[in-house]
Amino acid sequence: MEKAELIYGGKTIGLPVVTGTEGEKAIDISRLRQESGLITLDVGYQNTGSCMSEITFIDGDRGILRYRGIPIEELAERASFSEVAYLLIYGDLPNRAEQAVFSQYLTQNSMIHEEMLRFFDGFPPTAHPMAILATMVNAMSVYYTDYYTEDFQAQTFDLMAASLISRIRTIAAYSYKHSIGQPHIYPKPDLKYTANFLYMMFDSPVDPYVPDPDIEKVLSTLLILHADHEQNCSTSTVRLVGSSMANLYASICSGICALWGPLHGGANQKVIDMLENIDRNGISIEECLASAKDKNSRVRLFGFGHRVYKSHDPRARILKQCAKTIFRNSDRRDSLVNIAIELEEAALKDEFFIERKLYPNIDFYSGILFRMIGIPTNMFTVMFAIGRLPGMIAQWKEMHDATPLKIGRPRQIYTGSTLRHYIPLEERP
Ligand code: ACO
Repeated sequence: MEKAELIYGGKTIGLPVVTGTEGEKAIDISRLRQESGLITLDVGYQNTGSCMSEITFIDGDRGILRYRGIPIEELAERASFSEVAYLLIYGDLPNRAEQAVFSQYLTQNSMIHEEMLRFFDGFPPTAHPMAILATMVNAMSVYYTDYYTEDFQAQTFDLMAASLISRIRTIAAYSYKHSIGQPHIYPKPDLKYTANFLYMMFDSPVDPYVPDPDIEKVLSTLLILHADHEQNCSTSTVRLVGSSMANLYASICSGICALWGPLHGGANQKVIDMLENIDRNGISIEECLASAKDKNSRVRLFGFGHRVYKSHDPRARILKQCAKTIFRNSDRRDSLVNIAIELEEAALKDEFFIERKLYPNIDFYSGILFRMIGIPTNMFTVMFAIGRLPGMIAQWKEMHDATPLKIGRPRQIYTGSTLRHYIPLEERP
């Protein structure tokens, strides 16, 4: 086996080098502390591998993304979201029989327990849909206890996974209906995954939903592009929480909370706020870029930059093309599209963004498309969560399949006070 050598304290320490199937290399430092007393320090895990994984491959320098080896471009164009979910979780595209069983599981698990409806009444009208989603997903572990298991068992897992993938869509649609004061619409067993979601969102007793294949295709593409992204902030959270043997619902709930932040999945909402601000308040592109570059402001150009992609984000390219195609239809024109294109072009010519290799990420164009579908802005990150769920489940499963299961527990370099002693209150100055 290849080794790297570290010279420290006059001693040479040999460290094994691990190589992935695409030639990526890592130094295995798991025994470094025993051999040298050293730990490694990498704030924000910028150069730290937390696991070996067979699920998703990213080459950030070349803008490559593959799920289980299949390029994202092929999946976005040709696959359905449920096929992609199966591929991520079980490692291969389903054959017809497997697809039928998986679809049946999704259909059988699409309704939520009627008692759970009462939760929606308890949330204030101003509740953010991400808070509702996280709460309801965690509450599933109360209602679906027959799926709950601390020992990982394959059949229980299959049901939990299908239950989550199917019910998250029902929860999201119900929370929308509740927010606009309309009765919820039950899922229809004969509809496919994305069509069923749109039906539950937009059907009403007085205004029946009319299916639109273009919209269904856009939604399916969006969900597929979000479906996994290896060890990002929310997925790593799912793995970390799951590593304590917390159940799948609780682990996914923690991932949803991590996704909410504007530096991560919450960026899609921020992008639309930013574009609307430009549109409504007449802010120029230059002013917008200037505030994003100002180190004293906490403003960023949302939807730009990525920890891993340093040439382009392939998902952003697909979505930009998708936006250009769908907005050709004059009924669907949206002034924000041109602003986004103008902003992107200006940023890509700006030295600040060039030097730092900042390119549009998935969130730059996704919001415009969610908006076109009719999804309210504060629900964009919920849509991200629906898309990302299969990936989170796949990563949780992969971690549990590996033996032994190792609890995630980083170390630290302590920088606080050295030893000092307690002083009673009356003796303190
Ligand atoms: N706007 C302005 N400046 C930026 C941006 C941005 N969007 N992104 C990075 N920078 C600058 C930083 O200020 C920093 O500059 P410096 O070197 O002069 O200090 C440099 O580029 C590197 O940025 P970091 O924050 O160190 O990069 P990191 O890899 O830690 O962060 C992140 C990546 C969080 C995505 C960042 O680019 C960002 O905040 N983008 C905007 C939010 C966003 O779109 N998030 C969604 C990401 S995709 C996803 O999670 C689904």
